[in-house]
Amino acid sequence: MNNAHKKILLSGTQATGRPHIGNYFGAMKQFADLQNEYLSHIMIADYHSLNTIRDAGELSRNILGVATDYLAIGLDPEKVVIFQQSAVPEHTELAWIFNTLTTMPYLMRAHAFKDAEAKGKEISVGTFDYPMLMAADILLYSPDVVPVGQDQKQHVEISRDTAEKFNHLYGDTFKLPKEIIMDDVKVVPGTDGRKMSKSYGNTIPLFASDEEIRKAVMSIPTDSKGIDEPKDIEHDNVFALHKLFPGFEFAEVQEKYMKGGMGYKESKEILIKNISRFIAPLREARIKIESDKEYVLDVLREGGKKAKKIAEAKMEQVRERVGVKLY
Ligand code: TYM
Repeated sequence: MNNAHKKILLSGTQATGRPHIGNYFGAMKQFADLQNEYLSHIMIADYHSLNTIRDAGELSRNILGVATDYLAIGLDPEKVVIFQQSAVPEHTELAWIFNTLTTMPYLMRAHAFKDAEAKGKEISVGTFDYPMLMAADILLYSPDVVPVGQDQKQHVEISRDTAEKFNHLYGDTFKLPKEIIMDDVKVVPGTDGRKMSKSYGNTIPLFASDEEIRKAVMSIPTDSKGIDEPKDIEHDNVFALHKLFPGFEFAEVQEKYMKGGMGYKESKEILIKNISRFIAPLREARIKIESDKEYVLDVLREGGKKAKKIAEAKMEQVRERVGVKLY
């Protein structure tokens, strides 16, 4: 399809460490799957990550790491604009303008803020304001779609609200974006059955070694049902992961779960084999890309330039609309 006729996609991930299979199935896989169909902009949200990463060396490594991850899962920098949020200062500039339109009570309803507050965490202004920077990330690029996991749905809704508010006050400026959330992987469960998340320590890293995979799978708690007893495919965490990594024996596993005939040990061994088979080529690809740091930096440099061009044009329009552009 001609690029001019393609719809626009934007998404991103934070640079907070190694991605896990929740990030992959919930969002990153869609980045790769949709790259031919959409004009895609895939960002590394490094300024968002400053809310949690305070070590400069660690943040730099993480940024390079996410860029490497993106390339390893098959994003083609010829098709996809891969860039750092910080390479485009228009993001923080637009976030400021959105700050002036948004009320504190509105942002206090955001799940991420409420969760942090409920945990009694010390909350930075940056964490409170997170959704405004994310709205800027999205709206600068006029995307039609934003592929994310369920936990980001509210943030995309806030972006849409913010666009509507601005459009209402200053005239039609921003396209209203829509999230893409894949129903069957909207919340990928971790090894303990809760949402897979680094903060719960229940992840399977996307580029895990075979040893890490084995350790993670073996740590999944199961009930005490014996081999011959039927098992609960709705609530078993091992089976939930079989659904993400179905090997040729999936139908057999499912049948034996329902009728009895397979113990958790055997089920876990099959799962380990299938996850390892899936991850091995991704891990190999990543090792190759990682060895060429200059290439990865080039991708970021070029992506940053392309993104900046788009954001600059939008920001010119915004400055004009709000009345600060005099010449
Ligand atoms: P982040 O870095 O926390 O996560 C990246 C993506 O992974 C999805 N995800 C999951 N999906 C399914 N199951 C899970 N267990 C799971 N865990 C994580 C997230 O929903 C997300 O899509 N705020 C964003 C980063 C961001 C962004 C943006 C995204 C900043 N600006 C603009 C889209 C558009 C975040 O923290 O994602």
